[in-house]
Amino acid sequence: MTVYLVGAGPGDPELLTVKATKALASADVLIHDRLADPRIYDLTPSHCVRIDVGKRAGESLQQEAINDLLVIHGRTDGNIVRLKGGDPYVFGRGAEEAQKLREHRIPFVVIPGISSCLAVPAAAGVPVTCRGIAASFTVVTGHRRVGDEQATNWEALAQVGGSIVVLMGVEERATIARRLLQGGLPPDTPVAAIRRGTHADQTVIRTRLDTLHATPLVAPVTLVIGTVAALDLSSEHWTNEVELQLTAG
Ligand SMILES: C[S@@+](CC[C@H](N)C(=O)[O-])C[C@H]1O[C@@H](n2cnc3c(N)ncnc32)[C@H](O)[C@@H]1O
Repeated sequence: MTVYLVGAGPGDPELLTVKATKALASADVLIHDRLADPRIYDLTPSHCVRIDVGKRAGESLQQEAINDLLVIHGRTDGNIVRLKGGDPYVFGRGAEEAQKLREHRIPFVVIPGISSCLAVPAAAGVPVTCRGIAASFTVVTGHRRVGDEQATNWEALAQVGGSIVVLMGVEERATIARRLLQGGLPPDTPVAAIRRGTHADQTVIRTRLDTLHATPLVAPVTLVIGTVAALDLSSEHWTNEVELQLTAG
């Protein structure tokens, strides 16, 4: 028996790793989240039992239930695949699941996945780093539990430089923008909001930090904040100033 904690990538099934595909092909039980593309499930054998644990309400309670489910199935014979969007250890609560399995001495293997924090901007033509424009990028969650003492210091983040990639930032976007502005980022800082990146229905909205609060967005969205967000390397049209600087440099 083995539990595989598998990253499913950002959505497009062709962005699964070879290891992930092999684990899916050997799965007796598949425990999956909501975001995964249904075509990924077809990679499992016909006898495989599929369990949808996509979080809807009462998140923390449900996470406990998922942990228990993993332990129950992990004690049986066979291969258990716990499929998670992107990479299991990037805001996916994979670490909690791994800890629980370890506590119960259930063997597990982590199969990293391509995280949306990299793949979604790239699919929209936005490079998170770019020589001469962004020498670093910071990945941060926009979602915080009430009273969380590790709440993000957005004002400090505004001073770091480089690109800021925000996952789960839709609900808090007004606060995030206000605090980054207070921290010193210019109002016209470009923002790219990419919804369902790498899926066939991917959409990209370009906006600015001072208008982000009024930009209509529906999750799941990856936000890229910084000069690189003005780029569109997926387009054949080289129109904006940043791109002109790039070609000149
Ligand atoms: C709970 S986090 C999980 C992140 C995941 N573990 C990863 O590495 O990509 C879910 C958030 O990731 C982002 N996300 C995941 N898939 C996405 C996609 N296809 N397009 C845009 N954003 C996505 C959204 O911000 C979404 O709210």
